Amino acid sequence: MVQTHEKTATSPVNIAVIKYWGKRDTDLILPTNSSISVTLSKEHLQSKTTIRASPLFEKTRLWLNGIEEINLINNKRIQNCLRETKLLRKDYEEKLGKEIGMDNVLSLSTYNLHICSENNFPTAAGLASSASGFACLVYTLSQLYELPVSATELSKIARQGSGSACRSLFGGFVSWQMGSKRDGSDSQALQIASSDHWPELEALICVISDAKKGTSSTEGMQSTVKTSTLLQHRIDNVVPERMKLMTDSILRKDFSKFAELTMKDSNQFHACCLDTFPPIFYLNDTSRAIISVITEYNDKSGECKAAYTFDAGPNAVIYALKQNIPEIINLIFKFFPPSRENLTFFSDPFKLFSDRK
Ligand code: PMV
Repeated sequence: MVQTHEKTATSPVNIAVIKYWGKRDTDLILPTNSSISVTLSKEHLQSKTTIRASPLFEKTRLWLNGIEEINLINNKRIQNCLRETKLLRKDYEEKLGKEIGMDNVLSLSTYNLHICSENNFPTAAGLASSASGFACLVYTLSQLYELPVSATELSKIARQGSGSACRSLFGGFVSWQMGSKRDGSDSQALQIASSDHWPELEALICVISDAKKGTSSTEGMQSTVKTSTLLQHRIDNVVPERMKLMTDSILRKDFSKFAELTMKDSNQFHACCLDTFPPIFYLNDTSRAIISVITEYNDKSGECKAAYTFDAGPNAVIYALKQNIPEIINLIFKFFPPSRENLTFFSDPFKLFSDRK
């Protein structure tokens, strides 16, 4: 009887506090600057992937969100993740073969796969669906293939699917070190601190729009790399220092500093988008109104008690300490009642995602 092998896993999203924007190598997905993110709990936002391997499958196929079959022939990013994990499995089979004899080793690396991937939240709407999606693909493959490799090794593969995916292999606070090698072997994610380190930190997600974004991050970044002079200033003079300061603020649990750096970095990322020619606008009027509300709240409090950040879309993520969350939710509801047309949904507070045990 032919056996089918199957594994299912889930992965969380991560929201950057020092943003990645720009690639120095578009094939290997090597960034022009390092970045830092916080991984959110899987309670509300997660990707789930099931992979089956069978010698009877005629070709490898992938379905997204239960309906759409993805054409894999032209999808280089998915191909990269499949190829790299298969190569690791092949090495592992050879190693096992030497130890216990090739006849006793399952040649999973030669089987075609059927992959089902789904998100429990809107895909490609600036809510980091590609980060959790690619992290989940690579992690589930590593489980199916029983790969004896670290999360950092896997991060180098997930990076080749979607840059920010490399950070979703870890819980808590994560940096993506840009690296300097041409082959990308040192462009990897490392954990700064686990989620247990700062349990008081929570995130609120304001879903202003769940429509697919107008300019994809891939198109947007390359356009910024080609045309923005501000981006080079950011790469040379801003991010290296901010990486140190942000790491330090996380390790010291200094919320005020963490918040200031988070907001400044989000602002500069969107300034680089505006400095792109033609300009890219990810924020809308509601996003800008949220920036004003948080700024005024911090001014009135006499300290930074909340930090907004926006990715390649209009949706806001607000970081705050647990004790201030009810006050911030009230504030947001006051200015943006749930019935308001432009703010369709406001989530519960997010805990941080704990590490895989
Ligand atoms: O990994 P990508 O190609 O989806 O790019 C993500 C870019 C930002 O979300 C805007 C920033 C980041 O560091 O996550």
